[in-house]
Amino acid sequence: MSHSSLPALAQGVNDLRASEIRELLKLINRPEIISFAGGIPDPAMFPLETIGKSYAAILGDPARAGDAFQYSISEGFPPLRDWIAGYLKGHGIETGADRIIITSGAQQALDFLGRAFIEPGDGVVMTDPSYLGAIQVFGTYRPHFIAVPMDAEGAKLAELEAAFAQKPKFFYLTPDFCNPAGITTSLARRAAILDLAYKYNVAIIEDSPYEELRYDGARIPSFAALEARRGAANGNLVIYVGSLSKVLTPALRIGWVSADAGLINKLVLLKQASDLHCSTVNQIIANELARNSHASQVAKLRPTYKARRDAMLAALKRSFPAEVTWNVPDGGMFIWLEFPEGVDCAELLAQAIKDSNVAFVPGSAFYATEQKRNTARLSFSLGEPARIEEGIERLAVLVRNVLQANAAAAE
Ligand SMILES: Cc1ncc(COP(=O)(O)O)c(C=O)c1O
Repeated sequence: MSHSSLPALAQGVNDLRASEIRELLKLINRPEIISFAGGIPDPAMFPLETIGKSYAAILGDPARAGDAFQYSISEGFPPLRDWIAGYLKGHGIETGADRIIITSGAQQALDFLGRAFIEPGDGVVMTDPSYLGAIQVFGTYRPHFIAVPMDAEGAKLAELEAAFAQKPKFFYLTPDFCNPAGITTSLARRAAILDLAYKYNVAIIEDSPYEELRYDGARIPSFAALEARRGAANGNLVIYVGSLSKVLTPALRIGWVSADAGLINKLVLLKQASDLHCSTVNQIIANELARNSHASQVAKLRPTYKARRDAMLAALKRSFPAEVTWNVPDGGMFIWLEFPEGVDCAELLAQAIKDSNVAFVPGSAFYATEQKRNTARLSFSLGEPARIEEGIERLAVLVRNVLQANAAAAE
């Protein structure tokens, strides 16, 4: 009998690639490595005691436990949706529990939104660079990506208008302290982007998991809040995606979408078809945590991460050569480095892991269309300031050597 192999995979899945960078980053779980690669919350900050008490209370009450470990509705646990609606309203967003669906993290929200909107070849506008997970998941639906460059205030308007003129379905961005570039879209730029969205009828997917992690300046109203100020009669183009991952803990896998009720109804059907609902018990725990610990967690996280950001910025300033530039993010977890043309940050990473025991993520992972090789993302969320400083100093020695070698080769 001849050997039968599996039929061809769908194109969008076949195109998925494990990156060379992932392979390299598998090597960093050694204690001597100082890693700026993660971009994850510090587990030392998780509210574990409160979580433990909540689980124990549920397990200690048979009636509650019966419900908590049972199937539940696809929209999400109603009291948690009520909390989210109240929280968003507190920040000027016009919404209600009936306009919110709970998803398995913001990541599943992005998956469902991609599935809901994208036919193969449809235009999808992304900031350049953008969150890798969004590029990957939207990519499985085979859109035509249009990447729009950013300046210090966010997506550049002329380029964005040219992109919107191609009639894309949506513009995806992280307005606050974006992953990976750390840029915050200014208030004026948000208003102008919203004007363009209305002019060209393009949805805005506002993915805002870092919004609460602000270390300087005042909160800027979200696109959803700005849309609410203009009044419902003006339009309903903003789709707000939120998450509890960065403030509470990612493992509960609680994210949400707040949007037009018609879209939410469709997303609920997608959720039902996909995985029925998020873990019932985790939603119950998340509801208690959100109500009792969200504000105190934010108050605890801000000074901790701010000190780490400041330590990284000071060390960069002290030790990095002038040819390398970076931004000063007002919040979040990331600093974005730009090296002179000709520096390949994937090669730099390989050397940094081997020779300097330091890791970061090369920027090439974060471009939806053309990859730049001379950028890198550093995360400052893990580790004490002294260790961050040591890592940056080690990296600086390597960077100086590489720049000198490149200059010598060019002579
Ligand atoms: C911009 C952005 N969106 C979404 C996510 C996914 O978050 P969640 O844990 O809620 O799925 C991340 C996680 O790193 C992120 O950086």
